[in-house]
Amino acid sequence: MEKDGDASNMFKWKENPATLLPYTPPDWASHLNGSPTVRIKLFQPMTPIHMWKIPGLPDDVELYIKRDDMTGAALTGNKVRKLEFLLAEALASKCNAVITCGAVLSNHCRTTAVAAGILGLEAHLLLRSKIKNPEDIVPRGNVLLNRLVGAQQYLIPNEANLDTEIVPRMQILAKQLSDIRNIKSYLIPVGKPSTTAVQGYLWAWQELLDQGIQERFDDVIVTIATGENAAGLAIGNYLTGSKLKNNEKIGLKTHTDRKETKKKRLYAYWVKYTHFLKDFIRKVAMTTGVLLDPTYTGKAASGMSHDLTYDRSKFQGNRILFIHTGGIFGLYDGRMTNILSESRDDQSQMKVWMDLADDPIPVPADKRNTNGHQYQPNPITLNHHFNEDMHISLT
Ligand SMILES: Cc1ncc(COP(=O)(O)O)c(C=O)c1O
Repeated sequence: MEKDGDASNMFKWKENPATLLPYTPPDWASHLNGSPTVRIKLFQPMTPIHMWKIPGLPDDVELYIKRDDMTGAALTGNKVRKLEFLLAEALASKCNAVITCGAVLSNHCRTTAVAAGILGLEAHLLLRSKIKNPEDIVPRGNVLLNRLVGAQQYLIPNEANLDTEIVPRMQILAKQLSDIRNIKSYLIPVGKPSTTAVQGYLWAWQELLDQGIQERFDDVIVTIATGENAAGLAIGNYLTGSKLKNNEKIGLKTHTDRKETKKKRLYAYWVKYTHFLKDFIRKVAMTTGVLLDPTYTGKAASGMSHDLTYDRSKFQGNRILFIHTGGIFGLYDGRMTNILSESRDDQSQMKVWMDLADDPIPVPADKRNTNGHQYQPNPITLNHHFNEDMHISLT
């Protein structure tokens, strides 16, 4: 079986990112119909897993995080996993453009646009928005990156129907590109089930197995939207179920597939977007350095945190793995800006150049960080305290 971390494959990726590699699904998935036969190398595999002490968790909870936000820089997140298969299919069928759709702030569209840039494909994005006039869309967050990598973006109404309105437009666009410019397009109509797309998280399940999650965790938590991630993980869990059943240590449950994975648990959370959520994102960032996004992972993690505190019956055990699926550019589209200016405590303020004697640096109210260590003063405070002895000057 091909292994993601193989030096030979990494070398091929450096040679040419558009190189098509033969793909063999994991043994446990080899009997599934419609498995892709080729893939390309786009992301950094074997994303790390580490301990994650978010604020306010009960003491007996052992929370870890899998950093799928580290799959790449502009390619960050879960979406790039499926694109290794989808865009391989595009290249194998000699397409020169990719046409896809999503919300105006879509991570999938941004990842597709960036990946297309890497592979030398044109990207055409149909983006749902309440805003009708493209000039009113501020280029920031994912939209900024789409622009930077030269994707063509088309605004479509928020309520447009995928089957009757969006897909037909994608097909018309493909026809025009073909008739006028002799360009062949590959269509990714997000929201339609695709065995090729699910392969991305089937492979992620293999990666999790290789990282030893069966022995180490009781529950796995992931954010759900279209359900592709969750489906890949649930199918992976189901197909490797005998192994898991034997040691009864881990299980999955999803919104999409409750019956099949009855005894198994994978929680998908979707909490309301509130001031509380933004504050939660800020506190997690401040105490653990992990950046969650306001659309997906922030909601999932705050829902998880709530349930770990108030409804433990939802979990099989106390050893929890949260999968961070990325979305970080959601922090840069303006939604988080208010929270910083409205910040209710003094932990992270920006001041004008100050006279330290008259204007002492505020000491955060919470003197302990959540890793259980004593609060470490920031470097400026240190310098201030030791100024005389250490001859470090702030001026
Ligand atoms: C950052 C992030 N996390 C999670 C999800 C949910 O993934 P899925 O659509 O496969 O359920 C998405 C996709 O919409 C996403 O962008």
